Amino acid sequence: MSFSAIPLAGSKPDQYAQLLEQARALLHDERDRIANAANLSALVYHALPDLNWVGFYFYDGTELVVGPFQGLPACVRIPLDKGVCGAAASTRQTQRVEDVHAFPGHIACDSASRSELVVPLYQGDALLGVFNLDSPIPARFSVEDQQGLEAIARAFLESLQ
Ligand code: SME
Repeated sequence: MSFSAIPLAGSKPDQYAQLLEQARALLHDERDRIANAANLSALVYHALPDLNWVGFYFYDGTELVVGPFQGLPACVRIPLDKGVCGAAASTRQTQRVEDVHAFPGHIACDSASRSELVVPLYQGDALLGVFNLDSPIPARFSVEDQQGLEAIARAFLESLQ
């Protein structure tokens, strides 16, 4: 298999619709969590501008443990009461942080990160982990980015069933 990325075009919602289609094609017919998290991280990291980290943390029953990602090496374990990732996992709400320095408890894995989006991943009531994106640009993630990336996170969860 050789993957050819098609450049995203049009309005932001249009671009996310194209990215979602690419994600679904990439995850089609494969249920392995690590394989799909790895390929999805690579797809999103290369398709969207101004990102320095895209990847997954998975819940091991106690804390979040780093999974497949693109970017610099990252903190391995994050307790549920720490960081933006812990906040997303424990509140079950996407965390869209315009300025990471203003977020109490933010964990700086890469000092270049200025803004961050973390989508919680739940299978029913069971916490699977989080999908985390960092940007070196302040306020990089808009509500449209949040909606587009939540749809991609849902496609990931659906691929595991
Ligand atoms: N900044 C995150 C930690 C993970 S890194 O961004 C890869 C946090 O505060 O939870």
